[in-house]
Amino acid sequence: MKGFVPTPPALVDQMVDKLFRAGPPTAESTLLDPGCGSGVFVEGVLRWCQRNGAAIPRITAVDSDPARLREARRALAGVAQVTLDERDFLLPSAEQYDFIIGNPPYVSIMGLDACERAIYRERFRAASGRFDLYLLFFEQALGMLSRNGRLVFVTPEKYMYVQSAGPARQILAAAGVEEIELIDEQSFPGLVTYPAITTVACGHGRGPTRFVARDGTTLDVRLPPNRRSWLATINGRQPHEGGPTLADAFARISCGVATGADDVFVLPRGRVPEGLDRFAYPTLSGRELVPGTEPSPSKMMLVPYGPNGELLPERRLGGLRDYLTTPDRRERLERRTCAARKPWYAFHETPPLADLRKPKILCKDITSRPWFVPDLSGEIVPRHSVYYLVPNDPSRLQELCDYLNSDEVAEYLMAHCQRAANGFLRLQSHILKQVPLPAELVAGEQLAAV
Ligand SMILES: C[S@@+](CC[C@H](N)C(=O)[O-])C[C@H]1O[C@@H](n2cnc3c(N)ncnc32)[C@H](O)[C@@H]1O
Repeated sequence: MKGFVPTPPALVDQMVDKLFRAGPPTAESTLLDPGCGSGVFVEGVLRWCQRNGAAIPRITAVDSDPARLREARRALAGVAQVTLDERDFLLPSAEQYDFIIGNPPYVSIMGLDACERAIYRERFRAASGRFDLYLLFFEQALGMLSRNGRLVFVTPEKYMYVQSAGPARQILAAAGVEEIELIDEQSFPGLVTYPAITTVACGHGRGPTRFVARDGTTLDVRLPPNRRSWLATINGRQPHEGGPTLADAFARISCGVATGADDVFVLPRGRVPEGLDRFAYPTLSGRELVPGTEPSPSKMMLVPYGPNGELLPERRLGGLRDYLTTPDRRERLERRTCAARKPWYAFHETPPLADLRKPKILCKDITSRPWFVPDLSGEIVPRHSVYYLVPNDPSRLQELCDYLNSDEVAEYLMAHCQRAANGFLRLQSHILKQVPLPAELVAGEQLAAV
């Protein structure tokens, strides 16, 4: 069954406290636990009611996994107020609840089959881009929350900033987010998940949201009403409106080349077989970029593409074809997922060579502090772990690079970039494109159009 991660009792208790913070339930209140698993939230609600002398509300706990529900039935046998339902929570429903609490499944789109994806995309606004099931649980649960109802979910924090969660953010902000608390990375033993507890209070409307950081500091923020990432708001910065951005000064801001088989296409400089020099380009990975030093590639990439980025026909590969068709290499290339839809020797993604082989600026994709280095020769083919920025006006490359290395840009990226598992910044082209740019750095003809 999809996405079972049990919630530890201490976290359950913390969440139930938030659920009843505005007032205890009555015997008539209704409470839903969607994706209840073995019933830990129901047990937490019963504990809370007993501890606080409150009436037990009418509780419905739903899970689509019969084995989990059997466990819940065993744990909750004899509690008359509890109904356990084996069903798919994501089916249309007109039910309404005063309280909803849970730990929805974290299942990325990759864990869903084509039919499920199509159904969810049709039914949920939150099923956008590379969505995750917990976003749909948010949307479905918010649709089932009664007027003045309260919802508390623990989920990955990344819904606050990933692009695919834009529609879910909009739905949440409209419902009224009372509080977001980032909790310890180790809250789920054995998993590093960067979890957040989100409390929605219908009726809270567009009131301020209390944000509690992992170090315990708190901040009242007003969440953007649109799909924009909440990171900038939470970091106390206003989103950049209007003025020029990096997208105005660069013809291309992209992630480097993904071959899908660097072990075949990338070789140490001195090991390029004789006769293959015309296919070989100096290349760098993020790890090979060293702060404060000129980029100096020690590896070469064999590129079966022409100067304009067109895949060369096999008959024009010459010695490169012989190199790639040794049994182990050919078998390795055919094992790549892209080989199902492309010629066996094509790269995972077509390299835009015409743009790539121009003077440009390089930066590592995951880094503790972003830093940028120029490739003045334009010869380097960056690999997938390197972002590259090709300026409209190559004569301003150094100037633009200096600006990119300024504290101002570092602060912007710190405030807007996602975090990787180690807390490092994860650069992305859509964030880089939005970095504000001083008007004087925009090339003349672009400035007129801004
Ligand atoms: C992260 S687990 C949480 C389980 C439990 N609430 C807890 O906190 O320990 C998510 C649960 O959602 C259930 N689930 C996944 N997809 C579901 C669906 N479409 N409808 C109902 N339950 C679902 C899984 O079987 C799993 O038990």
